[in-house]
Amino acid sequence: MHIFIAGATGAAGRTLIPMLIADGHTVTGTTRSEAKAPALRALGARPAVMDGLDRPAVLAAVRAAQPDVIVHQMTALGGADFRRFARSFAQTNRLRTEGTEHLLEAAARTTGARVIAQSFAGWPSERTGGPVKTEADPLDPDPPRAMREAHAAIRRLEALVTGAGGIALRYGGFYGPGTGLTAGGEQVELLLRRRFPVIGSGDGVWSFAHTDDVASATLAAIQAGRPGEIYNVCDDEPAPVREWLPHLARCVGAPAPRTIPVWLARVAAGPAAVAMMTSSRGASNAKARAELGWEPRHASWREGFATLVRPRSRAPRPAARSAR
Ligand SMILES: NC(=O)c1ccc[n+]([C@@H]2O[C@H](COP(=O)([O-])OP(=O)(O)OC[C@H]3O[C@@H](n4cnc5c(N)ncnc54)[C@H](OP(=O)(O)O)[C@@H]3O)[C@@H](O)[C@H]2O)c1
Repeated sequence: MHIFIAGATGAAGRTLIPMLIADGHTVTGTTRSEAKAPALRALGARPAVMDGLDRPAVLAAVRAAQPDVIVHQMTALGGADFRRFARSFAQTNRLRTEGTEHLLEAAARTTGARVIAQSFAGWPSERTGGPVKTEADPLDPDPPRAMREAHAAIRRLEALVTGAGGIALRYGGFYGPGTGLTAGGEQVELLLRRRFPVIGSGDGVWSFAHTDDVASATLAAIQAGRPGEIYNVCDDEPAPVREWLPHLARCVGAPAPRTIPVWLARVAAGPAAVAMMTSSRGASNAKARAELGWEPRHASWREGFATLVRPRSRAPRPAARSAR
């Protein structure tokens, strides 16, 4: 098949390209930057330069490629700052709404390509009831104000894609190469400086997905996903922040994270961070395992985090004493 990856230079796209090629597919991968085209070529993809918010450019790129499947991996999450959640997610929200509309229109106008789009398993879920949610459980009806637009964009993306017979993949929190949770990554750097604390009791439950598993599940969805469905793509062990964050710190050679009270975190980090760290829910991967015949190579963040290379052995910076 010919697979068109919109947003091929990100953590998910770069891992997915070689896996698709090895499986016998032809891949077109997009970037906004001509300068990144050689890197896509080196991975085995045909590069296409387009901005996902530029409708004519999207229509032209898809028309030129004539793909069988379009994989939407366009986000703008690099450097996301949870203290300014609404502002940090504004561009990603547009890519999840307008960007999705452009890709669906392009698919409908050309080969009728199936669209498989990146969604998220984590903060969108309802924050009441059990700690682990399936695809059938409701999304959060009352997210913190700063997260409302991001929630609406996730809902819109999922409704658009599944309504058109495509598939939405709710990935767990990414870790591994190219993400913030790897050697030199943003979150690891924060941990090294003791600026990534547990908030309150650390009861927020997170589900994770190594980028290798993100890619293998996406391939499995291309091969076996049912039209109109949503699949959670994450490991087998949803876990509260109070468990996974200290373990991550140990794995990357960082000092133990601080614990700060909720009232302080609300001021210093904002309500979105408090919600994520204290009341978010994890996700079950049972449906993806059963229907896609997929299983994660990293079944738990416990061993997965241990594969992250120790960035460097040095003492934490003095800024580590800050109360943030
Ligand atoms: N589930 C998760 O936890 C999750 C999901 C995604 C990202 N992240 C995190 O976000 C950070 C950055 O990750 P990343 O590099 O994969 O994602 P990213 O910076 O959000 O970029 C992803 C892809 O979107 C493309 N893109 C961005 N704006 C675009 C636009 N206007 N039009 C077309 N394409 C556009 C980028 O391509 P070009 O820049 O080449 O145009 C890139 O290929 C990492 O820490 C990662 O872990 C987490």
